[in-house]
Amino acid sequence: MEQPVIGILGGGQLGRMLVQKGLDFGLSFRIMDPDISAPCSVFNGFVQGSITHFDSVLAFGQDCHIITIEIENVNIEALQVLQQQGKKIYPQPEAISLIQDKRAQKTFYRNNNIPTADFVLTQNREEVSRHTAFLPAVHKLGREGYDGRGVQIIKTPADLHLAFDAPGVLEKFIPFEKEIAVIAARSAKGEVTTYPPVEMIFHPEKNLVEYLFAPARISPQTAREADALARNIIERLQLTGLLAVEMFVTAKGELLVNEMAPRPHNSGHHTIETHITSQFEQHLRAILGWPLGSTALIAPAAMINLLGEDGYSGPAQYKGLEQVLQQPGVHVHLYGKKNTKPFRKMGHVTVVDEDVARLHRKAEFVKQTLKVIT
Ligand SMILES: Nc1ncnc2c1ncn2[C@@H]1O[C@H](COP(=O)(O)OP(=O)(O)O)[C@@H](O)[C@H]1O
Ligand SMILES: [Mg+2]
Repeated sequence: MEQPVIGILGGGQLGRMLVQKGLDFGLSFRIMDPDISAPCSVFNGFVQGSITHFDSVLAFGQDCHIITIEIENVNIEALQVLQQQGKKIYPQPEAISLIQDKRAQKTFYRNNNIPTADFVLTQNREEVSRHTAFLPAVHKLGREGYDGRGVQIIKTPADLHLAFDAPGVLEKFIPFEKEIAVIAARSAKGEVTTYPPVEMIFHPEKNLVEYLFAPARISPQTAREADALARNIIERLQLTGLLAVEMFVTAKGELLVNEMAPRPHNSGHHTIETHITSQFEQHLRAILGWPLGSTALIAPAAMINLLGEDGYSGPAQYKGLEQVLQQPGVHVHLYGKKNTKPFRKMGHVTVVDEDVARLHRKAEFVKQTLKVIT
């Protein structure tokens, strides 16, 4: 079978890990990112360019047979033209377009009876300020928010000035017990698989994942329901590729879908070491129309996002690397970003251990020991 050329819009760490896996399959890639020193800039096939501009995305796509993404904020109109030219665009432009906008996402959940936090759509800050009866709430930017930028908690009317002055969604604040995620995959042939739910632990202020545990410590019943929700959504969207679905688990054990992402996801990094098939391999299999791989868990895992230490900006240095590498089952992934800044995602560490208590201790050790400074 002749190997197609795969184009990736976005050249960050997700693209980098996707290409790393793709090399095992002998695949050729083109990757585009506006940052000349993006994590994918080390690969042949990397080009610098805007992924949000019509002309550059259209030109980029000409050399590719299949085009995929590693970030949602891409030019949809160009992808639609490329699709009309006969290119395969996975995930499909309509799905990316829906997910790009948290307003459209929330409306999709409501229209499809998918449980989600109650919400109202808002146009600007002034409109948000009229919803005092809806508080405590969370205001989210419709577009272009990521890693907690674009999410603002509004507990009382005194916080209303923090609302975004742009189209957004105001949703009920959910005092959840846990946040979990399920990554589903659907192949171009319609086959669907899911990974077991993982548990995400967020930085108290930054809304960024600090730790992740796999499998999630939830009841088998909750795990089954989470799995069914993710399958339901990927089937309804008829999406080809990966779909990560983030959910809240309430004290009553109820599930509410928070948001989704149509691409490899931070909550699936551990799959590289601890699942028979990693999320990156699964995404490639899905978009190539190949059989999907087993998603079985090999061993419990913890994943620690390696964030730039607060107070340090400039050329990155890694402190404590040797100490953490001395521990068995510690896998360090550095994304090759030259410069660090506070809370920038610089890498991640996956810890693998059969013994869950030891796993947690090692994860804590890694968190305390490995630091990105200048
Ligand atoms: N309705 C809500 N109630 C309580 N916490 C929320 C709510 N929505 C979001 N959060 C918190 O903010 C985090 C980031 O919000 P999310 O919508 O996932 O945005 P992002 O695109 O930044 O990941 C969530 O993971 C969760 O911890
Ligand atoms: Mg999120």
